[in-house]
Amino acid sequence: MIQTTSAAVPQDSRPVRDPELRAPIIQVHNLEKTYHTVHGTLTLFHGLDLDVRSGELVAIMGQSGAGKSTLLHILGALDAPTQGTVHCASTNVATLSQREAAAFRNREIGYVWQFHYLLPEFSALENVAMPLLARGQTRRDALATASNWLREVDLEDRSEHRPGELSGGEQQRVALARALVASPRLLLADEPTGDLDETTAGRVFDLLERLHLSHGLTSIVVTHNPDLAARCTRTLRLERGRLVPWGQSSQSGITTGTP
Ligand SMILES: Nc1ncnc2c1ncn2[C@@H]1O[C@H](COP(=O)(O)OP(=O)(O)OP(=O)(O)O)[C@@H](O)[C@H]1O
Ligand SMILES: [Mg+2]
Repeated sequence: MIQTTSAAVPQDSRPVRDPELRAPIIQVHNLEKTYHTVHGTLTLFHGLDLDVRSGELVAIMGQSGAGKSTLLHILGALDAPTQGTVHCASTNVATLSQREAAAFRNREIGYVWQFHYLLPEFSALENVAMPLLARGQTRRDALATASNWLREVDLEDRSEHRPGELSGGEQQRVALARALVASPRLLLADEPTGDLDETTAGRVFDLLERLHLSHGLTSIVVTHNPDLAARCTRTLRLERGRLVPWGQSSQSGITTGTP
């Protein structure tokens, strides 16, 4: 068992009740992304705009292949737009060099994916500590903070387990702790519950919601689950290359049911 000292998990105790009052944290204007492949040219977005204010929990839905993951990659500086402006956490991410993008991601962004991508040969505690070690923190400090985050996700008694010794829901909770351990401003989650059964998915989403609020995060969650999307402060649908509010068709403007 690795000994750790107690290090405070930073908290923002101001839950967001009125996103309109908060500053913009994501501003995307006129986005286009074009892929040139051997099969031809694929343009994913057509003048896509997105404004998200600090503290919002935004769900993005849309058909498979619509470009949801690509959009998250662009917001998180993992991919570059072909056209348009992308301001994210006070940074113009479209113009970052590879090195700047890596620093931006480590500083500002927490990612959670459908598959946890935990490193199999490391313990849960070490996996959570990785972003801090990448920042150059001492092992002792990184493990201390990681230990507190494992407590936040109710897994302190699994800290020495390797990913293969954890359930799917536990693996995603470790992934959430790893995403948030370096205190990012923005949480980008790409189908974080997509690989889980309904009950476990609900529990992981409960946790995501709780951490979003208690740490003053701005979160974007891609999901195919309308029940989970309905719990977000806002739901957008990616359709024909643009984001439209849930229930409003990009062509007809017709409003339909939940979420
Ligand atoms: N590097 C790439 N080169 C060429 N085409 C790509 C590349 N990355 C993604 N695409 C294509 O872009 C489209 C959008 O992909 P993306 O993964 O963003 O969809 P998605 O909305 O996340 O779908 P899903 O719900 O299935 O995860 C797909 O048709 C995909 O094949
Ligand atoms: Mg996807």
